[in-house]
Amino acid sequence: MTKAAQAAAKGIVRDFGEIEKLQVSKKGASNFVTSADLRTEKILIEQLAKARPQFAFLSEESGASGDANATERFVIDPIDGTTNFIHAIAYIAISIAAQKRDENGNWHTHAGIVYDPIHDELFAAEKGKGAFFNGNYRLRVSARDEDALIGTTSPRSYRKDFERTLGTFIKLSQSGFTLRCSGSAALDLAYVAAGRLDASWYHKLNLWDLAAGALLVTEAGGKFTSETGEAFDAETGSILASNGLLHGTLAEAVRGAQAA
Ligand code: IPD
Ligand code: CA
Ligand code: CA
Repeated sequence: MTKAAQAAAKGIVRDFGEIEKLQVSKKGASNFVTSADLRTEKILIEQLAKARPQFAFLSEESGASGDANATERFVIDPIDGTTNFIHAIAYIAISIAAQKRDENGNWHTHAGIVYDPIHDELFAAEKGKGAFFNGNYRLRVSARDEDALIGTTSPRSYRKDFERTLGTFIKLSQSGFTLRCSGSAALDLAYVAAGRLDASWYHKLNLWDLAAGALLVTEAGGKFTSETGEAFDAETGSILASNGLLHGTLAEAVRGAQAA
């Protein structure tokens, strides 16, 4: 996974440099970026399929592919943080998770990486073995239980869950948390694992945004649940990841907002 991400990163870094120059143009960089997403995904799938031919794929741009009966798969977001990428903001990541299917048909992540290609920062985790930064040192969640910084997204008015998300956003702010709308959920989770952020809350994400990051957080000693503190459910896609210390308070605030 690391090798595939590093191979795909070369194109992203080159494109990022081009986008920085495109910012002044009226049309901006949107079309350019769509092709960057597709190209990155193609490189990742080619590299991973070569290394692990028995794996199927679930990826953002091409959906499910490969052997439908496979018991192992890669879950890929080729560029998480596309809006940042379009605006030449250096907060983007490649996210890859390796999953195994159990006898009931449920998928479980056993390894994952989140790679920031611009800063060459690799966050990698293996189930039961820990989470590591650039292959060097162990990642640990923060020990902060006050003045917490929470990664999230800004509520979007066109989404049907707008009122609910906005209500929770207000409630968390009123409870004294500082919310940081970052633009990359995958990198937020890696930052929680690294103790840079204290928590991350999202009302709705897709599996490719969070599969690798969730393992990073738990392997770094943190907690990962649904936004209300129950077991994560891919159908609803809400998440609450934290250093553990803040989890109860955060989940309670989310529940309070949603009951209101
Ligand atoms: C998005 C980012 C963002 C989150 C969105 C995602 P994309 O992924 O993770 O932080 O708020 O819900 O869709 O589109 O940049 O791959
Ligand atoms: Ca994404
Ligand atoms: Ca994406």
